[in-house]
Amino acid sequence: MKKFISVHDVADINALAAKALAYKANPFADRNLGADKRVGLLFLNPSLRTRLSTQIAAKNLGMEAIVFNVDKEGWALEFEEGAIMSGNTVEHVKDAAPILGQYFDILCMRTFPSLKNKEEDYSEMLINQFIKYAGVPVVSLESGTLHPLQSLTDIVTIKENMVHSPLRTGSKPKIVLTWAPHIKPLPQCVANSFAQWINAWGEADFVITHPQEYELAEEFTKGATITHDQDAALKDADFVYVKNWSTYTDYGKIYENDPAWMLTEEKLATTRNAKVMHCLPVRRNVELSDEVLDSAHSLVSTQAGNRVWAAQAVLSEILRTNF
Ligand code: CP
Repeated sequence: MKKFISVHDVADINALAAKALAYKANPFADRNLGADKRVGLLFLNPSLRTRLSTQIAAKNLGMEAIVFNVDKEGWALEFEEGAIMSGNTVEHVKDAAPILGQYFDILCMRTFPSLKNKEEDYSEMLINQFIKYAGVPVVSLESGTLHPLQSLTDIVTIKENMVHSPLRTGSKPKIVLTWAPHIKPLPQCVANSFAQWINAWGEADFVITHPQEYELAEEFTKGATITHDQDAALKDADFVYVKNWSTYTDYGKIYENDPAWMLTEEKLATTRNAKVMHCLPVRRNVELSDEVLDSAHSLVSTQAGNRVWAAQAVLSEILRTNF
């Protein structure tokens, strides 16, 4: 594995998920694999889970992890080729990235989209510039359009909880991704990425439901059933993934924000006692009700815990194949 920025970097999703679950059972199985190796975790945006779980994963593999909050502690970076840097940016990525590539064996980074310029965000200019100039393997900690470590975690969590789900014999689990209300325009990354991974995995009956204005990019959703009827989508669901995202077509907006889209206990009545997932952080009683989050339906805490094992599986794979 040379990089990890989308599902396309993964040869076998089930094998990688199995590796993550093996690390969950035995965290220190490869305690020396990353000895004398250093990973840089660069954040251009805030994080709780991604930052800490990746640090722990690196430590479990014997690596040194150094966090750099570029947005708060670094020089303002320029990403545009040929930019005349007479504005607020101080250092070009083509100068900074090769230096980071000398300091670190692996670079992990969180960039986030602007939500203002769709072409720029969906071209993944920021992370691609790091890949181009760093000269070392790059891992996405969430980028302009995707959040692959979250999606691997989500598949790991689904797989380990499928045994608890009353699945019909021989049938695939029904997984529903439902849009939820929010007060701010959020990226489409988690939803895009979840759709991309579940479609590539191919072992689920996958339904996406959202208000009409919130369609996602077809490059990620193709293969899923899409409906604007949340109640119909939820019927017989085994897993319900709740997430807000801003509009894709008229980019980065909030249109309809109907509170009726918030997932409640009542709405889960038609599911197959579904497990409920969310990547966190979650706005309680806006995106998801207290009653669901605090119930036995909720997998959110297990899911966040599994971030460690997904990160460890990916770092392990990069260490094994590049050094
Ligand atoms: N789910 C997730 O990426 O959480 P953080 O933003 O806290 O890292």
